[in-house]
Amino acid sequence: MRRFASPQSSWRLAVRRPATRVAGSTCRLPQVLLRLATTSGLALIAAAAQAHSTAAPAAAGSAVDQEITFYRDVLPILQDNCQTCHRPGGDNYTGMVAPMSLITYDEVRPWAKSVARNVQSRTMPPWYADEAFHGVFENERTLTQQEIDTVVAWATSGARPGDPAHAPDPVDFATHGWRIGEPDLIVDAPRYFVPDDADTHYVTHTVTLDESMLPKSRFIKAIEWRGGPAVHHIVGYGFLPGRGQERGTGYGLGSIAPGEEPMQFPDGYAKLLVAGTTVAFSMHYHKEKGPGTGVWDQSQVAFAFYPEDAELHHFVDHDPIGNRWFDIPPGHPEWKVGAGRVFERDTTIIALHPHMHLRGKSAEYVAHYPDGSEETLLSVPAWDFNWQTDYSFAEPKRLPAGTRVEYTAIFDNSEANPANPDPTVSVDWGQETWDEMMLGYVTYSRTQPERLTVEGVLAEHFGVTEFEDVEAGEDIAQD
Ligand code: HEC
Repeated sequence: MRRFASPQSSWRLAVRRPATRVAGSTCRLPQVLLRLATTSGLALIAAAAQAHSTAAPAAAGSAVDQEITFYRDVLPILQDNCQTCHRPGGDNYTGMVAPMSLITYDEVRPWAKSVARNVQSRTMPPWYADEAFHGVFENERTLTQQEIDTVVAWATSGARPGDPAHAPDPVDFATHGWRIGEPDLIVDAPRYFVPDDADTHYVTHTVTLDESMLPKSRFIKAIEWRGGPAVHHIVGYGFLPGRGQERGTGYGLGSIAPGEEPMQFPDGYAKLLVAGTTVAFSMHYHKEKGPGTGVWDQSQVAFAFYPEDAELHHFVDHDPIGNRWFDIPPGHPEWKVGAGRVFERDTTIIALHPHMHLRGKSAEYVAHYPDGSEETLLSVPAWDFNWQTDYSFAEPKRLPAGTRVEYTAIFDNSEANPANPDPTVSVDWGQETWDEMMLGYVTYSRTQPERLTVEGVLAEHFGVTEFEDVEAGEDIAQD
């Protein structure tokens, strides 16, 4: 079954997070600080809070008002940072579905202690970039120290509801069916039965976009892949019409793996979905095997396009800096593997995405600039296989021509790694989760603006010479 949204369907930009209510949060803070100050005797904070509360009269109040309550102090934090996942039908990061809803007081109350523990340890919300990168990535999920203190103080002081009249309006998650907003084209893979006797199972589904689905090539603003319950990950790519469908000849269309978010480009940056393309879903299914475990899957990919008259200036490439030639010795706690790539032109990096499997421990991208200086672009000190996160720069990162980006991945093949399926064997490159991968994806474009036209992009970025570059990257990307 194939579907596509009508061409006149409204264009909508992706909304990644519920809107924050600015009014209210500025008034709330001093009360919390006052409370912390009186309980901890920190005169300095008290003074600061006092000064602030003079400026914000709403904050001054009776002793009862100083209590930290669910409705006034905690709920706004949960709305802004937790509910997108912790709600019925919450965001599903390919299998990473939050176990409980955190919307109402009755739902949150039994979890108060666990919530406090998880925010204090910074396990929740899930985010793995080094703290030094606070503010660098647009999709960052972190709480401020003040927010953490508020939640912890609330949970350890009786977890009181407070006055429901102080509650902010509930967040409307209605548009969150697709996280990229209303798609312009949804492509359904054929329905497929993942058999009973399969635990780990690879298959590629293809769907050729006929004229009714994609009458002409369109520039892509966002791509979201979606898999059923048995899907571990999907790597997506497109085969150009008439170019054959050999492995390694496709062009990259993103992917989805546990914890990964949809691919969304800043305004003016685009990929191209070429008319007549055959969309390939390279599927990795994973489930328990045994009688009755078989399930039907129908994975999908949704595209949001730019309006046809949009002025676009940057064509987006997405490929990895990787190394397949490594062999991690048994029991080794910190095996380092490196790879590098020189960007020959002025380049703008939009996002980074380290990819490893169960022995992944940490990852780092370092830019070595032509003037000899260097800069760490991303450090993920405690890698978690369950959260294959895209790190999207709030301000796209510009690299001068000749910059070499070195990607380093560290693997823990010791028994101290709780995710390690077998510390007694050596591990090299392979598809299975018990094999390893060493891929530092980079989403980037040329810095020099060009006026994107379908013909121009087809000639320059899909042409025979450029195509060989894409092929080299894809060969790795599809494994
Ligand atoms: C991006 C989605 C996402 C966001 C945002 C998020 N969570 Fe979670 N949360 C999860 C998932 C998924 C799990 C299950 C964890 C696992 O299986 O490893 C979880 C687990 C938890 C648990 C542990 C539940 C248990 O079974 O012990 C708590 C407590 C929690 N989250 C609280 C929060 C709070 C509080 C916030 C906001 C400050 C938050 N989460 C934000 C996805 C999310």
